[in-house]
Amino acid sequence: MKIAFFDTKDYDIASFTRFGKERDIQFKFYETRLNADTCDLARGFDGVCVFVNDDLNSEVIEKLYAMGIKIIALRCAGYNNVDVKACFGKIHVVRVPAYSPYAVAEHTMALLLTSVRRIHKAYNRTKDFNFSLSGLTGFDLHGKTVGVIGTGKIGKIFIDICRGFGMRVIAYDKYPSPGYDYVSLDELFSESDIISLHCPLSEETYHIIGEESIGKLKKGVIILNTSRGALIDADALLDGIKRRIVGAACLDVYEEESDLFFHDFSGHIVEDDTLARLISMPNVIVTSHQAFLTEEALDNIADTTTKNLADFERGEHLENELCYQCGRVDDCRKNRPYRCF
Ligand code: NAI
Repeated sequence: MKIAFFDTKDYDIASFTRFGKERDIQFKFYETRLNADTCDLARGFDGVCVFVNDDLNSEVIEKLYAMGIKIIALRCAGYNNVDVKACFGKIHVVRVPAYSPYAVAEHTMALLLTSVRRIHKAYNRTKDFNFSLSGLTGFDLHGKTVGVIGTGKIGKIFIDICRGFGMRVIAYDKYPSPGYDYVSLDELFSESDIISLHCPLSEETYHIIGEESIGKLKKGVIILNTSRGALIDADALLDGIKRRIVGAACLDVYEEESDLFFHDFSGHIVEDDTLARLISMPNVIVTSHQAFLTEEALDNIADTTTKNLADFERGEHLENELCYQCGRVDDCRKNRPYRCF
């Protein structure tokens, strides 16, 4: 099977080459992202392998279908960058639903601890032999209330970690699970000292932290986002920080990240004023969509993606297939188990 692999990073090549050999899948690694301008590179391949910032809109889907692409293998969990409705009946879409929820949950706690204990500042100071403690006062997490939005795989692990720290956990989820203290979104906004986002990006969750919700937050709240950038309206967040409502923000994702994240812009002038202003704030920590990046996760991503592709090639059931009906129909074909179409 021949697969065109887009948006390749150096850390992808070793694991995909290794697992690809085991399953007889040949990858052609392209550095460029997949979009309407680059999709001709997929001609002659059986499928494409893509990541979070490739743009698979309906135009791209039609082009891929016309050139005979049969499968889109997402090497990530989120799929808001793929028009899955346009794919239905034409191109099968598979993903990696979980590669290491621990990686993301642990990174979220790493960001929180860095922020509340000012580790980012202390690190820079001691590198410069500045051993002053002035301005480094933090606060205990023990006893604080954390509001978790989205109690899926990652949210649940983050909750376990927070409980280990002796924090009070409240949660909001459209589909609650047993064992959690669920509250309304408004209650979560007004009661939480820390808010962590672990829900997918959808029409409902777009700008879930925005001008209106920021007005409901507890003064000094810390906002953590390791899910998807557009869950937060970045301009409203900036305004909330300036008005001293938001005490700190830790962002692994950013709404306009696609042209910036994963690339080295040191030495360049970054045009995005909102991001530049956020990064200039002493109480904002930004990592560039790094939460997933552990050795375990990279192996799991390559293992599951190549298994998805091999199952497709052998005509087997695709347990990680996606379609536009995912989560919306009770009688899901995939669970029976058939393919989505
Ligand atoms: P999951 O599907 O296991 O959990 C998502 C949870 O959100 C579910 O419990 C679902 O019921 C809930 N949810 C759905 N709609 C909601 C709504 N309107 N309001 C509140 N809750 C809602 O997903 P998982 O694996 O926990 O991942 C969460 C998110 O983390 C993903 O959607 C993805 O965007 C992000 N992610 C980020 C990574 C990174 O490197 N920064 C890596 C992997 C995932």
